[in-house]
Amino acid sequence: SRLQMEVDARLRAYLARKSGGKGSSLLVNKSVNVDDGNVSADEAFYERQDPITPNSVVLEKIRHRKSLQLRNKQMDWQESPDGQKMLEFRKSLPAYKERDALLKTISENQVVVVSGETGCGKTTQLPQYILESEIEAARGAVCSIICTQPRRISAMAVSERVAAERGESLGESVGYKVRLEGMKGRDTRLLFCTTGILLRRLLVDRNLTGITHVIVDEIHERGMNEDFLLIVLKELLPRRPELRLILMSATLNAELFSNYFGGTPVIHIPGFTYPVRAHFLENILEMTGYRLTAYNQIDDYGQEKSWKMQKQAIRKRKSQIASAVEDALESANFREYGWRTQDSLSCWNPDSIGFNLIEHLLCHIVQRERPGAVLVFMTGWDDINSLKDQLQAHPLLGDPSRVLLLACHGSMASSEQRLIFDKPPDGVRKIVLATNMAETSITINDVVFVIDCGKAKETSYDALNNTPCLLPTWISKAAARQRRGRAGRVQSGESYHLYPKCVYEAFADYQLPELLRTPLQSLCLQIKRLQLGSIADFLARALQPPEPLSVENAVEYLKVIGALDEDENLTVLGNQLSMLPVEPKLGKMLILGAIFNCLDPVLTVVAGLSVRDPFVMPFDKKDLAESAKSQFSGHDYSDHLALVRAYDGWKNAERQQAGYEYCWNNFLSSQTLKAIDSLRKQFIFLLKDIGLVQQNLESPNSWSHDEHLLRAIICAGLFPGVSSVVNKEKSIALKTVEDGQVLLHSNSVNAGVQKIPFPWLVFNEKVKVNSVFLRDSTGISDSVLLLFGGKISQGGLDGHLKMLGGYLEFFMTPSLAEIYLRLKIELEDLILNK
Ligand code: CDP
Ligand code: MG
Repeated sequence: SRLQMEVDARLRAYLARKSGGKGSSLLVNKSVNVDDGNVSADEAFYERQDPITPNSVVLEKIRHRKSLQLRNKQMDWQESPDGQKMLEFRKSLPAYKERDALLKTISENQVVVVSGETGCGKTTQLPQYILESEIEAARGAVCSIICTQPRRISAMAVSERVAAERGESLGESVGYKVRLEGMKGRDTRLLFCTTGILLRRLLVDRNLTGITHVIVDEIHERGMNEDFLLIVLKELLPRRPELRLILMSATLNAELFSNYFGGTPVIHIPGFTYPVRAHFLENILEMTGYRLTAYNQIDDYGQEKSWKMQKQAIRKRKSQIASAVEDALESANFREYGWRTQDSLSCWNPDSIGFNLIEHLLCHIVQRERPGAVLVFMTGWDDINSLKDQLQAHPLLGDPSRVLLLACHGSMASSEQRLIFDKPPDGVRKIVLATNMAETSITINDVVFVIDCGKAKETSYDALNNTPCLLPTWISKAAARQRRGRAGRVQSGESYHLYPKCVYEAFADYQLPELLRTPLQSLCLQIKRLQLGSIADFLARALQPPEPLSVENAVEYLKVIGALDEDENLTVLGNQLSMLPVEPKLGKMLILGAIFNCLDPVLTVVAGLSVRDPFVMPFDKKDLAESAKSQFSGHDYSDHLALVRAYDGWKNAERQQAGYEYCWNNFLSSQTLKAIDSLRKQFIFLLKDIGLVQQNLESPNSWSHDEHLLRAIICAGLFPGVSSVVNKEKSIALKTVEDGQVLLHSNSVNAGVQKIPFPWLVFNEKVKVNSVFLRDSTGISDSVLLLFGGKISQGGLDGHLKMLGGYLEFFMTPSLAEIYLRLKIELEDLILNK
């Protein structure tokens, strides 16, 4: 009992010091770093102060007291007038009726699946119910709830909303954490974070010590990170019997997840939405006065195609749908309305009539329809911006006194985001141009009209020819229904689908999970980093395992670039790569850029490859735009070097306040350049984080711009994306190992030239339309390919030749090979294993 008195005395002294408001510097809250387990700063402080008393006793006391404080605070808020008003709103949400059932099921089961219509209150309410009930039970200071979101923007928006509903500001009991940003205080008990953040946390602590509830949101989207997380969590559950796992999904299909966890309970929140009338292209054309041609005969055709499709295996499904749809459109002569069906890359090209149709439709809504916001689903950032530009130039739609035109996509600033949720002044029509992000994770309440272009950009991956691409593809029926539902939140609404009914019928029921349609390289590195054993075995335990061939390709690729050794262990390079949240090839460029003191241009190249091409190619001014771009390339024969020049020129112009003019004159998108600029900064931050760049480095502007070195680093990153170059009399023949003959995309600076004075081109992206096109390329020499292409295998020269794809036999003599191998082995030891 003397010990007890001692503890109490110390505790009192400690609390007195704390409530004095001027805590020691150890108490200062580090809001960004959350990887500190569940021991909050003041507890850690106490531990350091008091090495004698058993920590558990002290901690328990502190926590109990804090729990009581939290309970009082919560009750005060709930009884205040504002709190009452908020509570009233919250009680009106469909989720509220299920509150008790939800909490009871969660306390009795380790895993629970919750499904419900978008907007019923899953994301904002359910985590809050858990938090409230824990606080009510005086467990506030011990509970730690993590709710993952697939996107940064939703983690931020949702945490802000939940904090407001609790009458707090962000960083008190509710916080968020996304890559490189966060708001979390020492008392934060409910943390919204991206799935990636939770995965990183697992790296530090495989058991998630201290976390009491994990909520994985939007699992119906079947993102790769989420599917991955589920495998890890499934294996963690037996080790942490107290841990609760809640899976939340928008649409049905909940059984799939329940079965995966051995038949856990599913709670469905019945939702209510107002009826929404669907208009397909045929009705829209009529309504807006667009000319209608005969296409009725294709109705059957479309159906027949869709029937045929069902008989095909899943793997073929996607391309089948695409071709069924394209066929239906082709035969329908829908091209007249702007469907550039042949060129699936530019289906939503700014110059296509599709944009004009949207413009027409928007005018129709603004002039003739009842009040209510309009939500337009586009495929991506580029579309949104081009359409926005076009609409802003329109006399009616660009008039700010009548139309409030907003864009909504993942990479925009949070101040911009907020406008989306605000109500516009009376008489002003809010029009939001969004990506499929607005399908489920974001709810804009006053939407009455939805316009659906029918496509979404998704990464697709064909394991057979090992070609990843990010292309606008037709959405699924589920997604189309989801988009439609967004119009019925507050009253009955209208949805306009810019494709014929028969095309809708040909859509797949659900979208293919990301794990089955993207390259798995980054994921494989994470599996290795988390020490989860053999990659193939691990992935075979997924909800829907990827094809073995895809897994094999990814592992092989990682071996080729030197991230894994022959026995599938992480190499030094692989370990570094796994810490960088970018694709391995981009990570490798960053690492080499830092090692070779050539970071500045490398940052631009990598940022450009991860954002998009800043060169704009308007359809009617394509020639002018192409010649503007080729000016940047000079005699470099490199799209990547052209990008570096364009960016550097823009940076210079910006300093003289002439950035906009510069972009205009050179056919560059200033928005894209700004995005590249900000990404560059993030990359520096990441490199500092893993210790490859000095902490005090402000910007790497003074660093080397050696063109040869830059080519070498680009080659190191893009390998094995190599094509051989043979200059013929009138043409240039290009070949890759996988595809044979390939062509250059017309936007590439190398496309128009007579002769390429380099034996090889490395490329980042190839697209398969009818032939295979290289979208971007950089010329490199033999020696660069030899020294920087791939990693020496333990199989010596033979193995290495195999890895270089057999290219080298064209010119390699045995003695040259011998010298080279020695040199390269030494270099690599020197550089990577230092
Ligand atoms: O996750 P789920 O789609 O089920 O719904 P939610 O995101 O929790 O949103 C529930 C409701 O909260 C929405 O219907 C909106 O009325 C409201 N909400 C809001 O007013 N402001 C936000 N930033 C988020 C939600
Ligand atoms: Mg939600």
